[in-house]
Amino acid sequence: MLRELRRTIEEMPISQIREIANDAIGLEDMIPLWFGEPDIATPDFIYNTAIEAMKAGHTFYTPNRGIPELRDAISSYTKQLYNIPIDPDRVTVTASGMSGIMISNQLLVEPGTNVVCPVPLWPNIRGTIDILGGEFRAVPLRLINKSWELDLDQLFQSVDQQTRAIFINSPNNPTGWIMSSDQQQALLKFCRDRGLWLIADEVYARIVYGMRHAPSFLEHSDPEDRLIIINSFSKPWAMTGWRLGWLITPKRFGKTLEMMNEFNFAGAATFTQMAGITALRHGEAFLTDQIKRYEDARDLVYERFSTHPKITMGWPEGAFYAFFSVAGMTNGLAFCRKLVQEARVGLVPGTTFAAPEEGWLRLCFANSLETLNTAIDRLEEHLDK
Ligand SMILES: Cc1ncc(COP(=O)(O)O)c(C=O)c1O
Repeated sequence: MLRELRRTIEEMPISQIREIANDAIGLEDMIPLWFGEPDIATPDFIYNTAIEAMKAGHTFYTPNRGIPELRDAISSYTKQLYNIPIDPDRVTVTASGMSGIMISNQLLVEPGTNVVCPVPLWPNIRGTIDILGGEFRAVPLRLINKSWELDLDQLFQSVDQQTRAIFINSPNNPTGWIMSSDQQQALLKFCRDRGLWLIADEVYARIVYGMRHAPSFLEHSDPEDRLIIINSFSKPWAMTGWRLGWLITPKRFGKTLEMMNEFNFAGAATFTQMAGITALRHGEAFLTDQIKRYEDARDLVYERFSTHPKITMGWPEGAFYAFFSVAGMTNGLAFCRKLVQEARVGLVPGTTFAAPEEGWLRLCFANSLETLNTAIDRLEEHLDK
């Protein structure tokens, strides 16, 4: 008799981020720093567009790859940001960055193939590869003098005949590592030479400090390269609950992506897409303010952690996470559970992100300085016990 579910699904572990959150939600006086999202709601100039769109009757299906005006807006935004032309035919709207990741991997991953990924990495990326029966092949980033580094030769050596794609998340969740433009060019060349796909998760492209955007593979690529860029409205415009993102791919996959969207979600919500147009066209001032807040938060957390005798932390160049290790901690999940119960602070263990060793934790600093100071006071007290 067949087993009730596919073996891969039955054997998948549940997300440790959810495990911690499930323990903690509902506890009084909790400071939740586990999910990766801004602490403020979507600004009114964005949500008003959605309300108006609903009132005007924009409640029907849209074309699978997104409404043309949004695809044009994404193309103009990208062109303006990187100073390169992007044909709107290369743009596919997705129902979130997450669904963009799933669809990209559905195109490429099958049993017997592997995807090479620098780690630590947001666990949902591995989850999609696992579900599809592929092998997640991890290459560890290294912390050298407070800076996260990728050894490209090591990454190249991890590639074999069964490698379909290399998955790069830069700026990286959880470390804040940003791949340099030089490394991007070298990797792109390697992928071209080997006929490999490059999947670039650039959802934190705008969550960067001291620059307007992180280097993008788009800046060095040709339109027909085997390159998929994944992006999302969630992080820059505080729209995590809206579930809206986009892909940029070679134009020749337009029909294929139309079909993939059809079978995954049959088009993102209409009024959400309309709000997305507003975010792209009028969201720069909001984004600039947010980045300033995150930058102050990063500086505070870094200052406090880097002067703590038990804590080691790399400098996050982008994204909004502190990824740090605590000397002597041998079980991150148990530590986080205890921290929830005894200190009412919610963090996530580094092993969730395929960190190569125990002892690491992630904290999301997209929060007020007051909240972060209280959370760090409590964590320090807990560590002193
Ligand atoms: C690296 C990375 N990629 C993609 C996403 C997905 O974002 P969303 O599905 O909200 O667009 C996240 C969310 O945390 C992320 O950290």
